Amino acid sequence: MTTTLIRGGTVVTATGRSRADVLVDGETIVAVLAPGSVLLGTDLSRAVDSVIDATGKYVIPGGIDAHTHMELPFGGTAASDTFETGTRAAAWGGTTTIIDFAVQTYGQRVMDGLATWHEKARGNCAIDYGFHQIVGDVNEDSLNALEGLADEGITSFKMFMAYPGVFYSDDAQILRAMQGAARTGLMTMMHAENGPAIDVLVSQLLAQGKTDPYYHGVARAWQMEEEATHRAIMLANLTGAPLYVVHVSAKQAVEQLAAARDVGQNVFGETCPQYLYLSLEEQLAAPGFEGAKWVCSTPLRSRAEGHQAHMWQSLRTNDIQMVSTDHCPFCMKGQKDLGLGNFSKIPNGIGSVEHRMDLLYQGVVDGQISLERWVEITSTTPARMFGLYGKKGVIAPGADADLVIYDPSGHTSIGYEKTHHMNMDHSAWEGFEIDGHVDTVLSRGKVVIDDNQYLGAKGDGQFVKRGLSQYLI
Ligand code: URP
Ligand code: ZN
Ligand code: ZN
Repeated sequence: MTTTLIRGGTVVTATGRSRADVLVDGETIVAVLAPGSVLLGTDLSRAVDSVIDATGKYVIPGGIDAHTHMELPFGGTAASDTFETGTRAAAWGGTTTIIDFAVQTYGQRVMDGLATWHEKARGNCAIDYGFHQIVGDVNEDSLNALEGLADEGITSFKMFMAYPGVFYSDDAQILRAMQGAARTGLMTMMHAENGPAIDVLVSQLLAQGKTDPYYHGVARAWQMEEEATHRAIMLANLTGAPLYVVHVSAKQAVEQLAAARDVGQNVFGETCPQYLYLSLEEQLAAPGFEGAKWVCSTPLRSRAEGHQAHMWQSLRTNDIQMVSTDHCPFCMKGQKDLGLGNFSKIPNGIGSVEHRMDLLYQGVVDGQISLERWVEITSTTPARMFGLYGKKGVIAPGADADLVIYDPSGHTSIGYEKTHHMNMDHSAWEGFEIDGHVDTVLSRGKVVIDDNQYLGAKGDGQFVKRGLSQYLI
């Protein structure tokens, strides 16, 4: 077993910061010690195999991105990052665990969909990974399958109120699946947009010759998100199912979640970096077909309407509990360009898995969130929400040594030619400047990123079985 001492840094957790040294034995953190500790008369730095100097830097628990779609077949093509490329890019950006979505497609059995996802990921990942289950066909068989998911380490499943004909579930199906969630303690995850109503607007816009990417945002108006969020909350209320709404972008949807929490309902919300920084006016309305880079669902919202500012505010007040990426990358050439002349054919998704920790750290620099809240929304809450806490999301004896040494005096210029490691032909974050830098990343004790070099290997990452959400106990 290799022993490592991370010395001289400021350890930041969700609850505070202090100068401390972190001792790692093999894959595990074994002690968090006062700086310069002497143990049984020995200077620790002489007793270990390696010392990492973190002076002037933050030592934080590795990022947990609880919403990714590696290799997802979608929109007539498939997400361009494989588990190999996507998890390597995640490591570059200080994320040491992803939770990807295993897919049950229409007509398929849930456990077969799950087995396919294990085959895609096994032996290919740079960092640890877990799965949520997409239930794309709610029927008697898949409802029965819910009962066995927790034993597989899958303690959450996602349904879609959007995408009719693809993953869509109607209210009757959602009601039945939520009854299953209430019975089993699985977390219900919801894509909350009114898909059938959106499809009417899409047809009307196309008939009027409004085919540019911008109209993706017009068709998927905030009312569609608010209405579906409210409906999901009501169905969860009736059934007693816990509810986690993914990729929340509209301030009105946040208000629905906050109101439900205020009356004691177990509902939670996630947002994504794109809904904090990007907008309908600046990105989706970019000239020509450029806006296709930012076609995702829920869509980017109007800055004039104040959604982005409200989302930062909601992160401060805990009306939104955490930030994931919804990483679903597509290249412009051969993928996004399927929607030239018809925005509804542009594959939905943005690639961000590499940049979440940096983009959210910039929120600390800009005074939007505290340093501790940065750790909480990117690591600790995802761990608690999805049954990983203790092993992940914390710096404490017994936890996996998933650690990031973050340099607040460093700088990161995001761009395709600069920091990009995702398998895409562009960056949705081109030109973003971050006043900080991911220096060193340890994944279960192994240094995988150091000094702008990747030292990991395909297969380092293991499947992690998750327990039930801590927020329900
Ligand atoms: O645009 C998105 N969000 N693509 C991925 C699929 C989903 O709805 O999460
Ligand atoms: Zn979704
Ligand atoms: Zn998604």
